[in-house]
Amino acid sequence: MRRSVDCPFSTQPDVVPPIWAGRHDEVNDWVDIVRPRRVDGLPERPRLILAEAGLGKSTLVGYITENAKERGDLVTGQLRIPLGADPLAILASALLDLSGEIGFSKADTKIGNLLARVTSISAKGVSVAMREQETPEAFAALRELMIRIGEAAAHRKDTVVLIHLDEVQNITDPAVLSQLLIILGDVTSKKIGVTTASNMVIERYLPIAVYLTGLPDFWDMASARRGATFGRRFDRRVLSPLSDEDLEMALQSFVLDGWPVPDEQGGTMRIGMEPAARDAILDLCQGEPFLFQLAGYHAWYAGDSEVITRAQVLRGWQTAKREARDHVERILERLPEKEAQMIQAMATLAPEERALKNIASEMGYSNSTQVASFAKRLDATRGLINRGANYSFRHRALEAHLVRDWPELSEDY
Ligand SMILES: Nc1ncnc2c1ncn2[C@@H]1O[C@H](COP(=O)(O)OP(=O)(O)O)[C@@H](O)[C@H]1O
Ligand SMILES: [Mg+2]
Repeated sequence: MRRSVDCPFSTQPDVVPPIWAGRHDEVNDWVDIVRPRRVDGLPERPRLILAEAGLGKSTLVGYITENAKERGDLVTGQLRIPLGADPLAILASALLDLSGEIGFSKADTKIGNLLARVTSISAKGVSVAMREQETPEAFAALRELMIRIGEAAAHRKDTVVLIHLDEVQNITDPAVLSQLLIILGDVTSKKIGVTTASNMVIERYLPIAVYLTGLPDFWDMASARRGATFGRRFDRRVLSPLSDEDLEMALQSFVLDGWPVPDEQGGTMRIGMEPAARDAILDLCQGEPFLFQLAGYHAWYAGDSEVITRAQVLRGWQTAKREARDHVERILERLPEKEAQMIQAMATLAPEERALKNIASEMGYSNSTQVASFAKRLDATRGLINRGANYSFRHRALEAHLVRDWPELSEDY
C-alpha cells in the first residue's frame, strides 16, 4: 500500500528528502576539501551558496550537516533568519547550545562571564535604541565565544565546528550584516598556537567551517557593504538546476528494485516505478529540485498500484501544476524590471537567435553594451541564464514556462 507516511518524496522545505539527487561537486567540496582542511588547521574560506528559491540551498547544507553529525562534528544546524529577526540573537543561542554540548563550565570565571554576556544577547537581541553602543560589544562576545568553541574543537580529534546561517538575504540591517561578515571572516582566518606531539608549538587555523545560504540578491547587499575584500573572503557558488542524469540516477533504485514500504502482513513490499513514469517526472520538473519532489509526491498519491505508472505521474501533475506555475512566476516577479525584460526578450527569440545584439534590440536598445550589465547579473549573480555567442537559459523551468505551455501537459502526452 502507498501510505502517506512511506512517501519518499518530500515537498517540505528544509528537510533532507529520502530521494536525493546530484550536488556531487558541492558535497565533495565539503567531504574532500572544506572538512579535511579545517580539521588539519589549514585555511579554507567560508562558503556562500546562493540561488533562486527551490534550487535546494537549505537542503544541500542540511545534507552536509547530517554528514558532519555522523562524523561527530559540532554543528549549529540550520540557523534560519526570518525577515526582521535579530541574527545576533539567533547566532548567540546556537553558540550557547554548542557550549553546552562541549561542556563549558560556568565555574571558570572567564567562560562564565562570556556565557552570561552571550545569554543576554540570545534573550534580548540587540535593541534598536541601543544599537550604537551595544552592537560592537555583542559582536565581541559572539566572536570570543566562537573562538573558544573552535579551540575546544581543535583539542578534540577530527572535529569541525559547522555553522550554517540560512536566508541571509533577510539580514537587512547594514551595520549588523557588515559586522557579522567581519566576525565570520575573522574566526575562520584566526590562527592559534597548538603544541604538537613532539612538543613544538605551531600555528593552526581554528577548525570552523561556515556556510551561508540565501537568495542571489545577498551578493549585492554584502558586496555593497564589504566592498572588494568581501568577494575574496568568501567562496561563492550559485546553484544550477539538477541535470536529467542526476535525477535519473536518483530514481534508479525506485525503477530497478522498487521503494520498500511495509505491507499489510507486517512484512515489506516494494513500490516500483515504470521507466516511462520516471521520464515523465524528469520532463515535468525541468531539473528543479522542488518540482521534482512535487511531481513525485503527487504521483505517489495518484494511485495505489504496486508500480507508479506514467498515467499516474500525469494525473498527479494536474494537481501539482498550479503550484509549479506559482513557483516559477514568483521567481520572475522578484526580478528587477530590466532583468525581467531581458528574460522575456530571450524567450521571444528562437534559441539560435539569442545573441546579445538581438536580445538588446528586442528590449528596445540599439547597442548591446547598454544591456550587458543586466546579462551579467542574470548569469553570474542569479544563475538563470548562460551568456556566450548565443545566450541560453540555465533555469529550464523558467524557459519552459515562457516558451512553451508548461506546466500544462501538451498534446503529445
Ligand atoms: N539534491 C536534491 N535532490 C532531491 N531533492 C532536493 C534536492 N535539493 C533540494 N531538494 C528538494 O527541493 C525542495 C527545495 O529545496 P530547498 O532546500 O528548500 O530549496 P531552497 O532553500 O533553495 O529554496 C525541497 O522539497 C527539497 O526536498
Ligand atoms: Mg531555503
